[in-house]
Amino acid sequence: MNPILIRFAIFIFVSSIFVGGLLAVQQFPQVREFDFWKAVFYKNPYPEKPPQPIIFPHNIHVKNLGIDCRFCHYYVEKSKYAGVPSVSECMGCHKYVESVKDRPEIKKLFQYYEEGKNIPWVKVHNLPDFVRFTHRMHINAGLDCSNCHGDVSSMDTVHRVAPLSMDWCLSCHRQSQASTECQVCHY
Ligand code: HEC
Ligand code: HEC
Ligand code: HEC
Ligand code: HEC
Ligand code: HEC
Repeated sequence: MNPILIRFAIFIFVSSIFVGGLLAVQQFPQVREFDFWKAVFYKNPYPEKPPQPIIFPHNIHVKNLGIDCRFCHYYVEKSKYAGVPSVSECMGCHKYVESVKDRPEIKKLFQYYEEGKNIPWVKVHNLPDFVRFTHRMHINAGLDCSNCHGDVSSMDTVHRVAPLSMDWCLSCHRQSQASTECQVCHY
């Protein structure tokens, strides 16, 4: 074959990969900043039940004491983050709760309080940054916490029950006729 023709063929081949790559990146701007480790591990970057600094029993507080989810996660309808209560909010009760004052987990709580430190809770749910999720429209659409978080009221330490994958979001969106357009969930 003519060597010039071969060179031309190679040139076309290489430049089409380059142009194709550019087009692909433009279509999915959210993957432009490529982080290898994040790409490998973001699907399961933590155990479903990560070790926590204090073993916080949801079952005791919700089921036995009857405290409402929103008493502690009060931003759930108002902001992007549901929020976790601060040490002083725990202390609002635990200063006066004699029955468990000497338990090791409560001693840790007092220690954080006396040192003026926040409890470094480990996130159980954590979507990648390129996904847009807010609680508000889901709650307003009539969903219950348990639709996505399972029966937290009987968990000792919270664990994740949903995969938080795109398929998981999409299959409920299809069922409930919510939007499945890319830009609804991706910036
Ligand atoms: C449609 C599914 C869905 C429903 C319903 C839902 N959540 Fe969530 N929740 C999520 C997802 C997804 C995350 C992870 C968000 C992230 O990483 O940005 C999350 C995160 C959280 C967090 C972690 C802190 C934070 O804000 O990131 C708390 C606490 C929480 N939810 C509490 C609740 C409570 C309480 C309710 C009920 C009032 C509720 N959720 C209802 C899906 C849901
Ligand atoms: C509305 C009051 C209230 C709030 C707020 C509250 N607790 Fe409690 N908590 C209690 C009561 C009451 C008990 C004990 C129930 C019993 O006697 O079995 C308890 C039990 C516990 C226990 C179990 C102790 C054991 O070993 O049996 C832990 C751990 C705990 N709380 C941590 C926390 C943390 C951390 C916070 C803040 C995020 C918090 N609590 C917020 C009232 C509260
Ligand atoms: C007394 C306060 C309190 C009440 C009531 C409470 N929570 Fe929590 N919740 C916490 C604390 C503290 C954490 C962080 C510790 C942990 O993750 O184990 C937490 C963590 C969570 C998480 C995991 C957050 C993450 O890191 O992704 C979810 C989901 C959650 N709560 C849902 C609920 C639901 C649903 C209810 C009602 C059935 C509820 N909570 C009631 C204090 C509370
Ligand atoms: C259990 C069902 C369910 C799951 C799971 C769910 N959603 Fe939704 N979502 C809904 C419903 C229902 C609506 C529609 C609310 C409306 O139109 O009033 C909605 C609405 C939304 C909206 C707003 C759409 C708009 O038109 O503005 C976004 C963004 C969204 N969801 C993101 C997510 C993401 C991201 C996930 C996964 C991490 C997810 N959702 C998982 C049921 C779900
Ligand atoms: C209802 C919300 C939702 C919609 C609609 C949605 N995505 Fe996603 N997407 C997600 C979530 C959540 C993740 C993160 C998945 C994970 O962490 O495993 C994701 C991840 C991705 C990724 C990263 C790679 C991967 O596959 O895990 C790409 C690329 C992507 N989405 C493209 C799209 C395109 C293209 C569309 C439109 C056809 C779309 N998404 C529509 C929620 C959504």
